[in-house]
Amino acid sequence: MKFNAKRFINEKLEEIKKEAGNGGALVATSGGVDSMTCALLSYKALGKKAVILFIDDGLMRESDKKIVREGLKPFGVTVKIIKAQKDFFKAIKGKESPEEKRKAFRQVFYKTLGKAIKQNKVESLIQGTIAADVIETKDNIKTQHNVLKQIGIDPKKRFGFKVVEPLREIFKHQVRQVAKQLGFSQRVYKQMPFPGPGLATRIIGEVTPRRIKVLRQATEIVEEEIKELRPFQAFAVLLKDKATGIRGGKRFFGNIIVVRSVESKDAMTASVTRVPWRILEKIRDRIIEEVPQVIKVLFDITPKPPSTIEFI
Ligand code: XMP
Repeated sequence: MKFNAKRFINEKLEEIKKEAGNGGALVATSGGVDSMTCALLSYKALGKKAVILFIDDGLMRESDKKIVREGLKPFGVTVKIIKAQKDFFKAIKGKESPEEKRKAFRQVFYKTLGKAIKQNKVESLIQGTIAADVIETKDNIKTQHNVLKQIGIDPKKRFGFKVVEPLREIFKHQVRQVAKQLGFSQRVYKQMPFPGPGLATRIIGEVTPRRIKVLRQATEIVEEEIKELRPFQAFAVLLKDKATGIRGGKRFFGNIIVVRSVESKDAMTASVTRVPWRILEKIRDRIIEEVPQVIKVLFDITPKPPSTIEFI
């Protein structure tokens, strides 16, 4: 049966009312299309009984907080901001293995939400887990931060609250249709996917405030320069290795940034964007000039599979 966004919305409004209508719910949104869709569906279903939250964890891009605020404003939704940078950096400090990082992120993420749920006196968490997140985590490809029940974690026992997942059966392109139908601006429903653990999934090795800052700057440049191609997803990655170069006439041992851009429908497979040289060169020049810690810029030509889209 062809996906019908209008019917989906009506069904989900009923489901949310039934599952979370009594005790109220919290929805944490990162600005991404999945969590924004969830936030608005929840607000439409529960009104003031839905508390919409942005966790400022220090791992987001420059623009994310703005997208959350401005994207939801036309619908009369106010967003509460929780500052939790210190907790997140403390939790992932010293961790280098991708799975360890993801699990540490998941732990502090749900602990932060647990506290907020108590403070706001609601009973459930509504989150934007989509079908691809569930499939990949179940297949043991990687531990997506927002998959719990499906891998045997009982959120009620572990974190003390019930989890409702209205988008669990649909894929990214269908979420976009729902977001469009709900009336979001193109900036929200056409935007590239951005993972919940944010820039932390794009750092090989330790995640520190200083390394996040380097990656954040490079990410902004890649997004800006590649925008005209409208790729499914494009971003920068900071490697752990360093490389020798020359800066100011002297030997300089600097960071390496990888640029990745992929085309996909549902994020389950992906091909590499054929980025014209002029754009790659512009990205390279701007990163080298504007992010002085970086001395080498590479372009990733690997599809998924065998690579995943993100690096960790
Ligand atoms: P991979 O890297 O597995 O990514 O090919 C598939 C899609 O999922 C996004 N992704 C995540 N999203 N939490 C999220 O919310 C996560 O832990 C996570 N890991 C990957 C990724 O950006 C891509 O769009």
